[in-house]
Amino acid sequence: MDFKDKVVYQIYPKSFQDSDGDGRGDLQGIISRLDYLSWLGVDYLWLTPFFPSPQRDNGYDVANYCAIDPQYGTMADFETLVAEARKRGIGLMLDMVFNHTSTEHIWFKRALNGDEQYQSYYFFQSGTADKIPCNWESKFGGPAWKYVPALGKWYLHLFDEGQADLNWENPAVREELKQVIRFWKAKGVAGFRFDVVNLISKPKKFEDDGQGDGRRFYTDGPHVHEFLQELVRDTGIGNMVTVGELSSTTLANGQRYAGAGTGELSMCFSFHHLKVDYKDGDKWQLMVPDIGNLRELLQEWQEGMQASDSWNAVFWCNHDQPRVVSRFGDTGRYWKESAKMLAGCIHLLRGTPYIYQGEELGMPNAGFRDIGQYRDVETLNYHKILRERGLSEEEAMKVIQARSRDNSRTPMQWQAGRNAGFTAGTPWIGLPEAAASIHVEAEQNDSDSILQFYRKLIRLRKEQKLIAEGSIAFIETENPDIIAYRRKLGQQELVVYCNFRSHSVHTAKDLRQYPATGWRLLLSNYAEENSLAELRPYELMVWLKD
Ligand code: GLC
Repeated sequence: MDFKDKVVYQIYPKSFQDSDGDGRGDLQGIISRLDYLSWLGVDYLWLTPFFPSPQRDNGYDVANYCAIDPQYGTMADFETLVAEARKRGIGLMLDMVFNHTSTEHIWFKRALNGDEQYQSYYFFQSGTADKIPCNWESKFGGPAWKYVPALGKWYLHLFDEGQADLNWENPAVREELKQVIRFWKAKGVAGFRFDVVNLISKPKKFEDDGQGDGRRFYTDGPHVHEFLQELVRDTGIGNMVTVGELSSTTLANGQRYAGAGTGELSMCFSFHHLKVDYKDGDKWQLMVPDIGNLRELLQEWQEGMQASDSWNAVFWCNHDQPRVVSRFGDTGRYWKESAKMLAGCIHLLRGTPYIYQGEELGMPNAGFRDIGQYRDVETLNYHKILRERGLSEEEAMKVIQARSRDNSRTPMQWQAGRNAGFTAGTPWIGLPEAAASIHVEAEQNDSDSILQFYRKLIRLRKEQKLIAEGSIAFIETENPDIIAYRRKLGQQELVVYCNFRSHSVHTAKDLRQYPATGWRLLLSNYAEENSLAELRPYELMVWLKD
């Protein structure tokens, strides 16, 4: 399977394009925007869940894996989407949320009705209401167990209480999930993204965690690699494009999940590099990003995965992360420069790049001021928790504004005017103020736009085998302001310099060595030539030796 020269574009259907005026995006909306995606040049679309769901976690609480939620359209719409995308050389990747189901799923409902066969699909523990099975915490805040008085049993939910964890130790569960894969494969999809896939194997016993929230017991659990290999083998998806979302994993495990020949996945997402602004590792405590640490983590995963012939999915943004330009860049004076630098920095790494809708426009965070404007369950829970921890409303909102997952869930910005062309109705969530000026229409018409820069990066990956397949080594590693690396393939070399600061910085190895014989500037984010004395604010310079 060749995915090295491919680029994936992530669509959050609820916020991409509404076609029927109900304020929520839908499949027909996506179909109407395929020409744009084809113009951009992406190869695959990863669609986050559009299956029937009570939407407690925006569709990551799946009530039926093999149907379409009417709010997104019909199965016929989906089939049209597959066919229309294929005509444009674009494949679809579906999001398989197999760690848990919604508590509205028929399996869970049967379990609640007392059917023990279905209780064994989940983790039910007998006991009394005053004695929780163990002290693990939900990723969305609060305990990871919920008591069902009618059964006298607790059930495990690592996420919202409406998302009950599936028991993969039960072979019947594994068979059911294989059927889901076969169903969508038969519909002609190109691949799959597996949600929090490294959490699927739980330990035999549920013990209190004296040191943390329990994650060390269930992350990369005892049978996780076996389960994945079995799923891939029995559904015959080994030659399709697959990506696993790995929560708090280790490099050694990443090497197996996405290793050539391990029979697991094509590639994986790890998140360590997106925690460099978490104070003491806590997402809900703000800190200025530590760029030295960002470089170290990228280096560890890039060079480490290379050493074991494994493959990374490379990304800054998704539907759970704040917008990268607000996070590591600048939304003011250097908005354009910083967004382009960040794009170049991630796209030229060794791995398959993922673009999250709107990232290619330099969309910023939501900038909402009032908690009433937020929709996400995690955000609303943590707003309460932060207030309970003693933060004032103003302090709590400062954290929420930086960290809320809603930052990435505001509607896609297509054009000037009402709701940026997303909907003719009332959008389910508001738009950032910047929507008035940052949109597809403006950027398609501007040859110097961030959008055009992304398009160029996608094209370069296809033109230069070196970008898709070359080896990587980090350079300038003593410099806390710069991330720089060298790619090599045969005689060809590429060096990428990224200044992460809003001021100029010197490089250790004088830039004036370029352009020495044979080197030429392949890409930069400044129009005026650089004197090569230093890197300008947020400057990106990419030199190529053929
Ligand atoms: C993943 C998804 C996230 C969801 C969670 C639970 O992290 O990306 O949106 O809330 O899994 O399914």
